[in-house]
Amino acid sequence: MIRKLDDLFVLNTDATTYAFRVTNGGHLKHLYYGKRITFDNGDVSFLEEGRELPPGNTSYYSDAHRHISLEYLCTEMSSRGKGDLGETFIDVTFPDGTGTTDFLYEGYELGTGSPNLDGLPSSHDGGAKVENLTVTLKDSHTGLTLELSYFVYADCDVITRSSRVVNSLSESVVLNRLMSSQLDFADGDFTLHTFTGGWVNEMHRNDIPVTSGKYINSSITGTSSNRANPFVMLSKGIADEEHGDVYGLNLVYSGNHFECAEKTIHGKTRILNGINPEGFSFVLEPGDSFIAPESVMTFSPIGYGGMSRNMHRFVGHHILRGQWEERPRPVLLNSWEACYFDLSEEKILGLAQQAASLGAELFVLDDGWFGQRTEDTRSLGDWHPNPDIFPEGLASCVNKIRDMGIDFGIWVEPEMVNVDSDLYRAHPDWVIDIPGREHSEGRNQRLLDLTRTDVQDYIIEAMSGVFSSADISYIKWDMNRVFSDVHSRALPPERQGEVYHRYALGLYRVMDALTKKFPHILFEGCASGGGRTDLGMLCYFPQIWGSDNTDAICRADIQEGYSYGYPLSVISAHVSTVPNHQTGRITPMETRYAVASFGLLGYELDPGKLSEEELTQIKEQIATYKEWRDVYFHGEFYRAGSSAGLANAEPTTWTVVSPDKSRAIGMNLQGLGKPYSHFEFYKAAGLKPGSLYEISTSPSFDEGSEKYIVRGDALMNAGIRTRTFLHGTHINDEIRHYPDFAATLFYIRER
Ligand code: GLA
Repeated sequence: MIRKLDDLFVLNTDATTYAFRVTNGGHLKHLYYGKRITFDNGDVSFLEEGRELPPGNTSYYSDAHRHISLEYLCTEMSSRGKGDLGETFIDVTFPDGTGTTDFLYEGYELGTGSPNLDGLPSSHDGGAKVENLTVTLKDSHTGLTLELSYFVYADCDVITRSSRVVNSLSESVVLNRLMSSQLDFADGDFTLHTFTGGWVNEMHRNDIPVTSGKYINSSITGTSSNRANPFVMLSKGIADEEHGDVYGLNLVYSGNHFECAEKTIHGKTRILNGINPEGFSFVLEPGDSFIAPESVMTFSPIGYGGMSRNMHRFVGHHILRGQWEERPRPVLLNSWEACYFDLSEEKILGLAQQAASLGAELFVLDDGWFGQRTEDTRSLGDWHPNPDIFPEGLASCVNKIRDMGIDFGIWVEPEMVNVDSDLYRAHPDWVIDIPGREHSEGRNQRLLDLTRTDVQDYIIEAMSGVFSSADISYIKWDMNRVFSDVHSRALPPERQGEVYHRYALGLYRVMDALTKKFPHILFEGCASGGGRTDLGMLCYFPQIWGSDNTDAICRADIQEGYSYGYPLSVISAHVSTVPNHQTGRITPMETRYAVASFGLLGYELDPGKLSEEELTQIKEQIATYKEWRDVYFHGEFYRAGSSAGLANAEPTTWTVVSPDKSRAIGMNLQGLGKPYSHFEFYKAAGLKPGSLYEISTSPSFDEGSEKYIVRGDALMNAGIRTRTFLHGTHINDEIRHYPDFAATLFYIRER
C-alpha cells in the first residue's frame, strides 16, 4: 500500500515499510526501510537528525539552505556537483561539458500495475494488486527530467524500483550512468554479502564488513556473469539464517551490472545497483529517454532465511511466467557428459531408450548435432543437422524418440558464430569485433552483434527454423564466452558506449519473440553453466543450468549460493558419473541424487556404462523424485549448518517444506567423514510446531525403515539423532562403510 501524508511517501508491504519525504529544498530524503511501522501523519521530525551541518570542509547546499549538506543527507538518488561526495546515482554530461546536476521534486503519480520498461524485462503482477508510485524530478539548472518509480509487491515483502531519464532539453546530452536503486541508511554496522566465482565455481558467498570506503560488486563480461552475480545481501549487525535484519537486492538485467556499498565519514551507509557505468555511455537526443533496469529489494527481520524466502516467492510469482511457470519440470537425461562431440544416431537413440526405461521424461541432445560440429572450433551459426549423424534428418530421429514415450530437447548457442562457419563466411560484418585489430577469441567463437536489428531478425528466423523442424519441447540456450574487443559496426564512434546495453536489449527482443512464438517449449538458460543466472533471463526462460560442475560436493556449495536469491525451482542440477569429470572426485550415488534433487533433476551420464545396481538406484530415484517433485518445486526452502566444505565439522542441512507444511524433505550432507563419530542430528525447519509428523529415510515410509513419529516443534528444535554417517569404526566387529561425502535424505509427512 502506498500513502502520501503531506510531504511524506510511505510504501508498505505486508511486513515492511519504506519511507521518504520531500525536503524544503526539494530533495528526496530517504527516511526508513525496515520492519513495518505506522505513520499517523506526515510529521517525521522524530526521524530527522535534529542537528546542523557538521562543521569542517563539507559544502552546504545553497545560501538559502546553509544547514543542508547533500553529503550528509540520506537521499533517494544522489548526483554530482552539489555536495554529495558519495557514489552517484546519475551522471550526465551536458553540451557545455559540465556534469553538475541537482534533481528537485516536481510531482508524483500513484497508479496500479507492474512496470513496463520498454524492451527491458520486468516483474509482472501475477494476478495480485501492485501499487506503484512515480516521482518526477527536474534538474534545477537545465530542466533535465528524472523519474523514480516504485512498485509494491505486498505479499512477498518486495519493493521494486526503476528510473528513467528524459532529455527534455533542446540539445543532446550524454548519460554516463543511471542507477536503478539507491538505499541510504543514516547509520552503519552493515555487512555486504556478494556471490562470486567463475566457470565450474559459481556463487560463493563473501561477507564483507562495510566499515569505511566503497566495495564494488560488478560484471564487465557483457553478461551478469559467473564472476559476480547481481544478487547481493546487506545485513545489519549480527545476522544468521533465522535472526537479524537482512536486505536482499537484485537486478532484472542480464548485462554488465554494478552494486556498490559505501560507508561515509559521517557513518552513513549507501548501496546502489544498476547497469555498470564502466564501458557505458548513452547519447540522448532531445526527446529521447533512457530506462534503467528494474531493481528488486526485500527486507526481512528474520535473517538470511526470511530474506531468501521473500525473494523465492517473488521470483516464483512475479518473474517466472508463461506455460511453464507452475508446471513441474521434466526429469531429463542430457547427452553432454555421456558423449561430448562424439555423436551418432545410434548412440542418441540408445541414450534416449535408456532414459525412457529409467523413467526420465525428456532426452536432451546437447552440443555437436549441427553443421560439421565435431569439435568446438567450427559450425556455430550453421543451424542445420549434421547429415552424418542424422542420415534421415532430425525429425525422423526425434519421432523415434517420441515413440519411446519420452520428449525431446536440443542445445543451441544462437548468439555466437565460429569464424569457421558458413554464417561467418557470408556475414563477417555481423560480429562484435574491431576492424583491423586482432580479436581475442573465447572458446574459438565470436559474438554476433545483437545491437543490430538484422542480426536479431536472423537469429529469430534461424531458431524458429530449428524449433519447428522437429517435435521439440525443450531448448537449452547456451552462451559460452565473455565479451572482448567491444565494437559494433552499426554504431557511430560516439555511440560505442551503448554496445553492451544495446546487446542486452537485442537479446531480450530475440528471447521475447521466440518464447512468444513457441510458448509450449521449456527454455533453459545456460552460459558455460551459471554465467548468466539472473532475473532478466528468468523473465523469459524459467530455468537455468546452474553450473558445468556436477560434482556433488562442489554443487552443494554452488546450489546453496544460488538459494540465497533464487528458488530451487529455477536451477537445474544433474547426477553425473564418477569419477566426476570436473573434479575427479568419487561421491556416492545417493549423495549425487540428494544434492541434485534440491534442484530441477536431470542425469548427465551414459546409463550403458552403469551396473545393474546403479540403474536400479536411478530408477528408484526418479520414481521418488516424481512423487516428491511438487514439494521441491513449490516448497519453502531452509538452510542450516554450514555450506558443504570438504572438511566441515558440521553437515550441510537443507529442508524444503510444502506450502501447506504437510510434507517436507530434509538433507544432511557431510564433507570428509569423521572417525569415531556416533551421531549426527537432523533438525527440520518450517513445519507446524504442534502437528505430528512421521519422518523416515525411506520415501515410502516402509515398514522396517528407520522411522519416528515426532511433533513438529520437537523435530525442529531437538531434531532427530541419526546414525547415518557412522563409519569406519569397529562396532561389535561390524564396520559400516559410509564413505566421505555421505548424504542422507529424510522424508517427512504430517500424520
Ligand atoms: C557449455 C555448457 C555445457 C555444454 C557445453 C557444450 O559449457 O555449459 O553444459 O552444453 O557448453 O558445448
